[in-house]
Amino acid sequence: MTAPVLREMRWWDLEQVLDLERALFPEDAWSPGMFWSELAHARGPLATRRYVVAERPADGRVVGYAGLGAAGGLGDVLTIAVAPEAQGGGLGSRLLTELLRHATAFECDQVLLEVRVDNTRAQKLYERFGFEPIGFRRGYYQPGNVDALVMRLTVQGTENRQDG
Ligand SMILES: CC(C)(COP(=O)(O)OP(=O)(O)OC[C@H]1O[C@@H](n2cnc3c(N)ncnc32)[C@H](O)[C@@H]1OP(=O)(O)O)[C@@H](O)C(=O)NCCC(=O)NCCS
Repeated sequence: MTAPVLREMRWWDLEQVLDLERALFPEDAWSPGMFWSELAHARGPLATRRYVVAERPADGRVVGYAGLGAAGGLGDVLTIAVAPEAQGGGLGSRLLTELLRHATAFECDQVLLEVRVDNTRAQKLYERFGFEPIGFRRGYYQPGNVDALVMRLTVQGTENRQDG
């Protein structure tokens, strides 16, 4: 089957994105309003967000999505998700690569993310990209009171920019 194509997320993707969101994050799914608000900050010269979807060319189905926030040289992986049937085939890696490309375009020196302490699969993915654990946020995920592991990536080639 042809590989999914990555492109900008638009409002007309939200129905499919929300279906995936509820399936993949049953305890703390983002609401439609949260996605609308995020997309409102994803266009124009003052944009602080980039959201992408992975679309299957054969039927137009959205099988993954991801979002990055950026401000003051600091990036934040806000969300990343792949449909269960599409996991383990490298799509999560492609989405993360795309977010990091946007982080570079935003001139981020560092990219942070929060991940549930029990989500070892996602943590392994981030580690492969060079993210390192830097601390915890206690009770970050509600309901459930699950801690977040905070991970940080220093974006290559920008870490000494102030000195040079
Ligand atoms: C975390 C998540 C986004 C990863 O997406 P993914 O598409 O499965 O990611 P990848 O395929 O790039 O990598 C994941 C695994 O597949 C393996 N893989 C990558 N390419 C592969 C390929 N071509 N063939 C077989 N396996 C492959 C990787 O080695 C990796 O294995 P490991 O985790 O066992 O070490 C996905 O599991 C997901 O959506 N989970 C639920 C939501 C979630 O937890 N999001 C993160 C919140 S912080």
